[in-house]
This record gives sequence, structure tokens and C-alpha cells, in this order.
Amino acid sequence: MRDVAVIGIGCTRFGEKWESSFRDIFVEAGTLALEDAQLSGEKIDAMYVGNMSAGRFIGQEHIGALIADYAGLATRHIPSTRVEAACASGGLAFRQAVIAVASGMEDIVIAAGVEKMTDVGSDESTDTLTGAADREWEGFMGATFPGLYAMIAQDYMHKYHMTREQLAQVAVKNHYNGARNPIAQFQSEITLDTVLKSTMVAEPLRLFDCSPVTDGAAAVIVAPLDRAREFTDTPIKVLATAQASDTIALHDRRDISTLDATVAAGQRAFKMAHLTHKDINMVEVHDCFSIAEICAIEDLGFCRKGTAGKFTADGETALGGKIPVNTSGGLKACGHPVGATGIKQVCEIVQQLRGTAGKRQVDGAKIGMTHNVGGTGATVAVHILGRV
Ligand code: COA
Repeated sequence: MRDVAVIGIGCTRFGEKWESSFRDIFVEAGTLALEDAQLSGEKIDAMYVGNMSAGRFIGQEHIGALIADYAGLATRHIPSTRVEAACASGGLAFRQAVIAVASGMEDIVIAAGVEKMTDVGSDESTDTLTGAADREWEGFMGATFPGLYAMIAQDYMHKYHMTREQLAQVAVKNHYNGARNPIAQFQSEITLDTVLKSTMVAEPLRLFDCSPVTDGAAAVIVAPLDRAREFTDTPIKVLATAQASDTIALHDRRDISTLDATVAAGQRAFKMAHLTHKDINMVEVHDCFSIAEICAIEDLGFCRKGTAGKFTADGETALGGKIPVNTSGGLKACGHPVGATGIKQVCEIVQQLRGTAGKRQVDGAKIGMTHNVGGTGATVAVHILGRV
């Protein structure tokens, strides 16, 4: 296998983008990534596009072809493939691009993610997202995504006695980071009170425990490491790519407040990179709900099971803490355009490793990790990236 490097990144601002279409936002992110790699589109050999549900959100399928067309690459007939794994679609698109380059099949490949979620109302977006769970045994019984994660939170708080205040601290920290990220949907700091007094969504999760509904796109370009310096002075090496799956329904799990697919993907990634959690300088985890970040940092091994609430409240996951988590603002504050999130996580880690993350820069960042979840943990993608 060949070593692979990220040579370009691009991301739109996340939020409600009434003024732009699905194809506009993809082209914006792709163009930014090409400019970043000082590359013309003619050099692209293949594309993988993460997208969860354009068919439901905008009535458009056949996304691989659409994107190749609007990127101006259709007449070159390059292979362009849509990758779908619910909210992990972006992470899996990145993994497919890395595998294509590592195998020697392709040289310069775009991995992108795009979702336009705000063109439908709240009821329809909630129903569409429920398609990432088990429609027959969960969705038809009335469980929504906030409802499923609320069950995880109830179980976790019962077992480990985490306080409501400790859980809310995840959102406070992620809004602090989002306020320092120019692409974030929410760029305002909040207090514990903001979370604790916000509208109840699904007990115990309130509005500020939830990621929002978001439009946005992100793109990264990967190439063989030995060619990377043709395009950039700061190539970022992909040290590991890992993926794992689990039962689609929460009720079939061994333990609903441990995501075994996160445990498996994390262990595989550490093994592939010959590293441990102690080598990671910062991690972007899938905080679709505040409880999801609590579970993720334990399941990836950054703290012991049952201790993540205190770990977070003690500031260990904040900028300047032991392991900064979600310096981008995470899904909570940066936003969660579901198919694009996994790629945005890679963009954030690349910025940190290049030393260009501005006010949210982690000092001396050398190695970073991304963790992208589909559904309630039926698919997980974990990547480790490092400075060359
Ligand atoms: N955090 C903070 N503020 C939020 C927010 C969030 N998650 N979601 C919406 N808001 C704000 C809006 O900006 C708006 O503020 P404004 O009145 O100042 O403009 C206000 O709350 C109402 O927005 P609206 O879109 O009407 O909210 P809603 O009640 O329809 O939706 C949720 C709120 C929490 C139900 C929705 O954001 C949601 O479903 N989130 C989860 C998404 C999800 O499941 N993703 C997949 C996870 S794997």
C-alpha cells in the first residue's frame, strides 16, 4: 500500500443557506480545495461524495453524476461515486478516497461531503434523519434521533451518576470553540444556564444538547505522499483509516451507552498507526448530541468509562486541556450537514496540523483524530492524521 496525504481542503460556511443550491455549495467547497492545493480540476482522477439523503431533502438522486457535472468534470468522464452511511457518509467517502490512492488505482482524488437540509420543514427533516436508525423497529414505534440519544443519556446518567451540569458543559465548550471558527453555524458563546434553561427536546436532552439542522459542503484532496510536495509545502499524512459496524437498532446492543463500533474502529486505527490515545493532540468526535461526545471520548480511550462528565467539567477537553475535543465547535456549534460532517472534521484536523487554526489553534499539534458516526453507532469511521 502507498502512503497517502491530504494536499488540499475547502469548506463552505455552515448554516441555513437559502441563497445557494445543493450544487452551488458543493462547487464552492470543491473550488476552495482545488485552490488550496493549487491544482486545476483536470488533474482529478476520481471523486467520492458523501451524502445521506438528497433524495428526501431536495428530491435529487444520482449525486455522484450531478456533482461531477457541476464540478465541470463530466466531459472528462472521471469515476464519481456517491457514498452513503447516514451521518458517517463523509467519513466513509474520505476512507474510500484514501483506499483508492493507497491501492495505486488512482492518484489525485477528491473526497467530499454535501447536504442541503433546510429546504424542508422540521417534521420532514426529523423523519428523514430517522431513516438512519431502524425504521421498522424504532422509527415506526415513534423513536426520533433526539429520542434515541435521550435513551442513551438516561441509561448513562443512571449508571454513572453524571450530573446534568456536567453534560451541559459539552455544549458550553463546543460553543466557545465555534465562536472562534469562521465557518461555524453558531458563533456565539453560551453559559450553562443557556443549556439548562433551553427548550426540552427529549428528556434529558434540551435544545442546546442537540446539533442543529444545517446546509453545508466540505472537500479534501488526497494524493500519494511521495507526490504531495508537488502541490503543497504542508502535506498531512493519513496515518490510519478504520471503519466498524454494529446492530442498526439500539435495543439490540450489548450496552446502549457504549458504542462498540467506536471502540472497534478506534482500536483498529491505533493499531494501524502504531499509536495510542496518548499520542493524539486533538480529536474531532461526533457530538450529534452532548451525550454522544461523552460516550465517544470514553469509547476512544481518552478517559475511563463513567468519567467523561467530570473530565469535561474539569476542562480537560477544552482548548488548553489534556485532549482538546471538537476545536471546530463540533456538530453542536459548527453545525451538522450530515453528509458533509466527516469531511469537515478532516478539514479541521488538517488546519490544526498546519498551524492555521487561528484562535482555536492547539499549540504544537502533530497528530489528530476524527470520529464520524452513522445512526446511533451502526457505522463508525475513525481516521488519524499527522504532520510530515
Ligand atoms: N442548537 C441551538 N439553537 C438551535 C438549534 C440547536 N441545535 N436548533 C435550532 N436552534 C435555534 C434556531 O437557530 C432558531 O433560533 P432563532 O429563533 O433565534 O432563529 C430556533 O432555535 C428555532 O429553530 P427551529 O429550526 O425552528 O428549531 P426546531 O425546534 O425545528 O429544531 C431541533 C430543533 C433540536 C429539533 C433540531 O435542531 C434537530 O432536530 N436537531 C437534531 C438533528 C439530528 O438529529 N441530526 C442527526 C443526528 S445523528
